[in-house]
Amino acid sequence: MSDIPVITIDGPSGSGKGTISRTLAQMLGWHFLDSGALYRLVGLGGARHHIANTDEEKIANYARELAVRFETGDPDAEPRIYLEDHEVSGELRTETCGELASQVAAIPAVREALLARQRDFRQAPGLVADGRDMGTTVFPEANLKIYLTASAEVRAQRRYKQLKDKGISVNLAALVQDINKRDARDSSRSVSPLVPAIDAIVVDTSEMDIPQVMNRVQELVRQALPDVTLGSPSG
Ligand code: DC
Repeated sequence: MSDIPVITIDGPSGSGKGTISRTLAQMLGWHFLDSGALYRLVGLGGARHHIANTDEEKIANYARELAVRFETGDPDAEPRIYLEDHEVSGELRTETCGELASQVAAIPAVREALLARQRDFRQAPGLVADGRDMGTTVFPEANLKIYLTASAEVRAQRRYKQLKDKGISVNLAALVQDINKRDARDSSRSVSPLVPAIDAIVVDTSEMDIPQVMNRVQELVRQALPDVTLGSPSG
């Protein structure tokens, strides 16, 4: 088993885990796995190639051979993501891609196909892995497992603000409904459902802002890995 340390940060979308885990990886100078992006890529690519979600074998094969490139030029910026040599970074973040991702993520063969690819991100000096099943399935032996959560209403409000800031108009009530629907699908699927690992530390962020969550996470990292150095967020 690899002795490269791993910190897993799981939870539903809107819990703040994307921002928190990316910042934590920067502070540690570690690698970062955005596993949701892989499911989004399979959802997007599958749709572009007209592969039906009911054709589980075909979509799993597509996932296994996914031609993706992550370009991390500026450590402060989000990486550029290329699918089959076309940049898809913006499109991946849309609600449509999130919905497609949630659908393909419920297919056991797709999850299996992405396992090795996710584990390949475990490179020295360490990895922060962001997702739904990082602590339960992909890295069950992680050094620290954090599960971030928040109420569906708070998560919908955060998403609403994010989209509004990007100039995308959405309806808040529809967002709450979508989040509840996606949570139900992610939590009830047969393989790797969205649940905290038994040894995960659950942090409810409903009443916390990002700096407060970041402080709590740093505290947990110092307790679990007393030898690591936490630098400033920009590295
Ligand atoms: O974190 P995200 O919103 O980018 O994830 C998109 C979808 O992918 C989400 O509905 C659940 C799924 N997903 C998953 O099933 N397992 C993961 N490790 C990450 C994401």
